[in-house]
Amino acid sequence: MQPPRDKEPGQTSIEQSERFKPPATRRDFLGLAATWSTVVAFVMAMLGSLRLPMPSVFPESDSKVKLGRPEQFSVGSSTYFSAQHIWLFREEKGFHAISSICTHLGCITERTANGTFKCPCHGSSFDADGKVTGGPAPKGLVWVQLDVSPEGGLVADILKEVPADTVFDA
Ligand code: FES
Repeated sequence: MQPPRDKEPGQTSIEQSERFKPPATRRDFLGLAATWSTVVAFVMAMLGSLRLPMPSVFPESDSKVKLGRPEQFSVGSSTYFSAQHIWLFREEKGFHAISSICTHLGCITERTANGTFKCPCHGSSFDADGKVTGGPAPKGLVWVQLDVSPEGGLVADILKEVPADTVFDA
């Protein structure tokens, strides 16, 4: 064992220096790491929760579908817009549009030769107006809102439901 070194006059020992901090023990290090991890996780969670009220997707922007000019559709016609899953019907009184998405689990219904709808997934059936005639679908097919754009074209808003039997006079 070495004898303690003598200090010069006016010199402080390493232990007495204010800058000296004893090396952290493993326990201290782990404690500090756990504390800072908790703080960082809490701050990140708080920052994340600030984003919650803001939707990541703005459905309004994509919900409107241009269908064409009203005069394109003859009275008695039915036109399917496969990308949007909408049937557009034109009658004497005006237009109506019905979604082909099954209200059970979202399969795409098929229109039969007599104008009714049939779901290929679990067998739900709907009449020509989309009303349920056979389960398991809990409700009828959705009638979507129609409108006319400033340019005079028919527009369907696939996220806005209107009561069944609503006829739009374009
Ligand atoms: S998804 Fe249409 S009946 Fe189930």
